[in-house]
Amino acid sequence: MSGYHSPQVTVDVRLNTNESPVGPPPEFVERVAANAKEILWHRYPDRSARMLRAAIGDAVGHPASGIYCANGSNEVLQNLLMTYAGAGRTTLTFEPTYALHSHLSRTTGSTVVSVDRGDDFVLSLAAAQDAVATHAPAVTFLCSPNNPTGVLEPPSTVTGVLEAVEAVGGLLIVDEAYGEFAPWSAAELIGEGRSLVVVKTYSKTWAMAGVRLGYMIGPDWLVGEMDAVTLPYHLDSMKQAMGVAALDYADAMAERVNAIKAERLRVSERLTDMKCHVWPSAANFILFRPPEHAPADVWQKLVDRSVLIRDTSSWNGLEGCLRVTIGASDENSVFLEAMADILERL
Ligand SMILES: Cc1ncc(COP(=O)(O)O)c(C=O)c1O
Repeated sequence: MSGYHSPQVTVDVRLNTNESPVGPPPEFVERVAANAKEILWHRYPDRSARMLRAAIGDAVGHPASGIYCANGSNEVLQNLLMTYAGAGRTTLTFEPTYALHSHLSRTTGSTVVSVDRGDDFVLSLAAAQDAVATHAPAVTFLCSPNNPTGVLEPPSTVTGVLEAVEAVGGLLIVDEAYGEFAPWSAAELIGEGRSLVVVKTYSKTWAMAGVRLGYMIGPDWLVGEMDAVTLPYHLDSMKQAMGVAALDYADAMAERVNAIKAERLRVSERLTDMKCHVWPSAANFILFRPPEHAPADVWQKLVDRSVLIRDTSSWNGLEGCLRVTIGASDENSVFLEAMADILERL
């Protein structure tokens, strides 16, 4: 097997990994520096990350007993799969979607069944329910908004898939790494009697990809089972403190989310004007297909102009497509001018 790679090139404008274009507020960074002096460095961290779970629970309106944290949402996903998937069990994904869902399923030993989405990457509820009933997966993944397409699942799809998943005794994971850019969250469907978890991250909205912190909202019984599988002391003391502190800057984060949504509209409209096919996005990136040009050429010519986006054209179902992260306004302008220039010359 090959590992998961996201090629990095040194460029002026980096719009390839869906990060925040700017770091967290300076006051946050100062507070983290002050926190560093208070950490009991010679002691193991709070194994249950109680303060962090309580702070996240307050922020999302869910009891702390239903919050679970790990080193990035990738680790949340891996620990979910270690707990509920594995050898002799099946994981179901709807492609194209975030590559780590199938990759982590394989590395944790489960069999992956992948079902293609319909036209324009919209999931047909009937087809999804059929796939669940046929394969009886231990774990089913939805990603909303979906990476790399940006497409949001409506409540009716998540509810319908959840019903099918519960009928076969499985677990539904909704990956909402980009949920803050979207108009609704599946977290509102979580309940003690349900087999649903929603996974979120500090990497995108919170501008903390370098910290590696993610979390999950779910029923208490499930968090208890996850705790039994998780490595002791996996979440270091500094990270726990950073996760708590960040939540005090929710207003600053909301402003950034709004700015990115406004830029998303501008970039999407300009790309459409350039005759690109643009998929509607509820995330901080846009999937598009340039008109009648080899996408790899367009990608390379952008790199030549010191702009890096993601070439998704070799991914299954994404022939001809590229994905661009919404950056700061000036970065987006550089990207758009470069695109206009490239498409005119090609
Ligand atoms: C859909 C999705 N889920 C999870 C992740 C992983 O995020 P984290 O940095 O929290 O591990 C990403 C990162 O790009 C993502 O796109």
